[in-house]
Formats: sequence, C-alpha cells, structure tokens
Amino acid sequence: MARHIVGIGGTFRPQSSSELLVRAVLSACERMGARVTMFDGAALAALPHFNPESQDRTAAQAAFVAALRDADGIVIGTPGYHGGVSGVVKNAIDLLEDLRGDDRVYFDGMPVGLVVSAAGWQAGGVTLAALRGIVHAMRGWPTPAGIAVNSIAQKPFGADGALIDAGIAAQVDTQARQIMGFRLEQAA
Ligand SMILES: Cc1cc2nc3c(=O)[nH]c(=O)nc-3n(C[C@H](O)[C@H](O)[C@H](O)COP(=O)(O)O)c2cc1C
Repeated sequence: MARHIVGIGGTFRPQSSSELLVRAVLSACERMGARVTMFDGAALAALPHFNPESQDRTAAQAAFVAALRDADGIVIGTPGYHGGVSGVVKNAIDLLEDLRGDDRVYFDGMPVGLVVSAAGWQAGGVTLAALRGIVHAMRGWPTPAGIAVNSIAQKPFGADGALIDAGIAAQVDTQARQIMGFRLEQAA
C-alpha cells in the first residue's frame, strides 16, 4: 500500500509560495510512490477557530482530522507572519488535538517535512525553528532538511507556479527523500 503523505499549508494569495512549496514536496513524494492529500490555504481557512471546550466538528474539520489520522507522513508549510507561524496554519494544527487520545498519539512516529516562506531571512529561520518546536510537542519527527525560502530575494517560482530555483528544488527532493525513507525502527 502506498504511503499517504498529507500536506498542510498556504495562504489566501494566488500562487501562495508556501502552498506551492508544500505541493512541490508532495509531488516529489508522489514520484517516489506516495499517495498525497493537500489542504491548502483556502481549505485551512474554512476550518472554524479551534475550541477546546467543544466536541462539535464541521464536515471540513472531520475530514481534516481523518486525513491526518490516516497519514504516514506530513508536510507543513507556513508563511512567516510577524516572525512566526500564520494563524490559519496554527489553527489547523491546534485542531489536531483531536489525535491526542488515538492509539498513535498526535504525530507519534511520523516524519514531518517543514517549509517556510518569508519576505526576509530572519523570519524564515525563527519560523522554521518554531515549527520544529510544534512538531516535537506533537511527538513527530521533523526531517533534518527543513526548507526556509526568502520569497523576495530568491523568487523561487515562475509565472506558471513551477519551481525554477535549482537549489530550492534540490532541497525539496532531499526533504521528500527523508520523508519517504523514514523508518520508525530508525527512530526507536
Ligand atoms: C501579516 C503579514 C505578516 C508578515 N510578517 C513577515 C515577517 O515578520 N517577516 C518576513 O520576512 N515576512 C513577513 N511577511 C511576508 C510573508 O512572509 C511573505 O510574503 C511570504 O512569502 C508569503 O507567503 P505566501 O506566498 O505563501 O503568501 C508578512 C506578510 C504578512 C501578510
């Protein structure tokens, strides 16, 4: 059975660079034999604010949690917003509190690729570190290769949304290989 890799990330902007980067990692995983599911900025924005006092879930929330429950690996992408993870992406992650009581708690034993797009270098670094902290809190295994892109200085995408920066493409491939090559026995 093909591994299921779930992508989470993006903003409302057309050709959101954080969304395109997550999609690029998913495509590379697909080429390596994965089946993939993507939750982009619009899908994440459709999730109501997470309320720890309520067990009510919309169909969109239930579908999101179900996809993550079925995942064998995750790719999370965010823009750097004010030096951190965007609210839309963090709200989706907070909903995954629903995985806390599962046999596999949160992201336990799963590889998680992390991607940040920011307009400057500083936000890329600190936001990638913040994402790593979040994944550790959720018992996941951030891949050694994290990707932080400067969307102004690097201009990674062409007009059609294709990844045109060879260096970033190599990072995308490395991260996908680390996700697809991850074995829990290595982590145990
Ligand atoms: C509300 C807001 C806050 C931002 N804060 C930062 C920041 O602190 N540092 C930075 O380098 N870029 C910042 N940016 C720029 C975005 O991180 C950058 O444009 C990013 O590439 C957008 O990702 P996207 O293409 O997926 O929308 C901010 C943008 C917005 C809209």
